[in-house]
Amino acid sequence: MAATTRFPKKTVRDVSVAGRTALVRVDFNVPLHGQRVADDTRIRAALPTIHHLSESGARVVLCSHLGRPKGKRVSGMSCRPTAAALEEMLRRPVAFSPDAVGPRARRTVDALIAGEVAMLENTRFYPEEERNDPVFARALASLADLFVNDGFGAAHRSHASTVGVAAYLPAVAGLLLEREVEALTRLLRPERPFVAIAGGAKVSDKIDVLSHLLPQLDRLLIGGGMANTFLAALGFDMGRSVVERDQLPAAEHLIAEAKERAVELVLPVDVVVGNFYLEQADTRVVQVDQIPADWLAMDIGPLSVERFTDAIADTRTVFWNGPLGVAEWAAFANGTSGVAKAVAASQGFTVVGGGDSIAALKRLGLDDRIGHISTGGGAALEFLEGKVLPGIACLEDR
Ligand code: 3PG
Repeated sequence: MAATTRFPKKTVRDVSVAGRTALVRVDFNVPLHGQRVADDTRIRAALPTIHHLSESGARVVLCSHLGRPKGKRVSGMSCRPTAAALEEMLRRPVAFSPDAVGPRARRTVDALIAGEVAMLENTRFYPEEERNDPVFARALASLADLFVNDGFGAAHRSHASTVGVAAYLPAVAGLLLEREVEALTRLLRPERPFVAIAGGAKVSDKIDVLSHLLPQLDRLLIGGGMANTFLAALGFDMGRSVVERDQLPAAEHLIAEAKERAVELVLPVDVVVGNFYLEQADTRVVQVDQIPADWLAMDIGPLSVERFTDAIADTRTVFWNGPLGVAEWAAFANGTSGVAKAVAASQGFTVVGGGDSIAALKRLGLDDRIGHISTGGGAALEFLEGKVLPGIACLEDR
């Protein structure tokens, strides 16, 4: 049985919020199309906390980063479109402050009545944010009398709005942060059989997570760009496929460790190759020992999809992160779609992270069949590496 661990930090449910002003750190770092939010998953995920605070009579002051403006005001990285998207979801006004601190922020917050919501401008427009500058943190904190961290996606950053403010305010977790930690903790103490499916381009992004999860795993499925490096480590000639030469020793080490721990390592047996790294490239399906010298592996092949599907079918816990091919191009998306279907069909507890995997599930209308879709890219991976996330550590214990 999976061990159920109580979330160790106080949450918004553990404190009285009526009549208080809550500074809520959210992760509204979302893709924009001009002035519109292109993917509102992260904003929707914050709604339970916003509703809870607002319905309990708190004044809700949201802050977030968006992009990496490096301490400068960049017009295309304003949080204003996220406030507009939230306004549509809540079907009521969300006040917007064009500053994160100072008199204009103060006026925006002072104008709120109980239950109302405001959004501050991008915290990363200030160089003090990423330095976790105490003066900036205190200025942010001075807008409220309670700090709520609900920005799981930024909880691995030790910044003024994720950690610094907790030195000046009572600090508790939001409901999304709690949900993320509970779901990811189930992967660290999984009900077995447990399978992890890793895709995406880079071995270096995932290797630490895979090493940390390995003792709990029954099967490890590797596809996508990173499989090229594993196949090369096993001696296959990968043609012109992208192989991370500097990660070959890490791949060899993981292969050996999986063998030692009797974890079944499932790699592609066939691949879809293209003659160029182009959407319109000519394609062929070949066995992994027959990749033509001038061609590149760009997706897992149909036989591999079948093997991956079988390896997922009878498991109790499934973790999937990363596309199995160049999923944004239709000719190389079948591997990712096939695995998305297999994960969605699983009767076990399923967790999916990473933008491309989530996008594939959404495209197929399968996202509501997943146990937990993580909003945290880097934060989720660091959590699964066993690291303590500073944005969680700074919150009050129960
Ligand atoms: C993310 O998108 O993973 C988070 O919002 C963190 O963003 P960052 O990597 O720019 O800190």
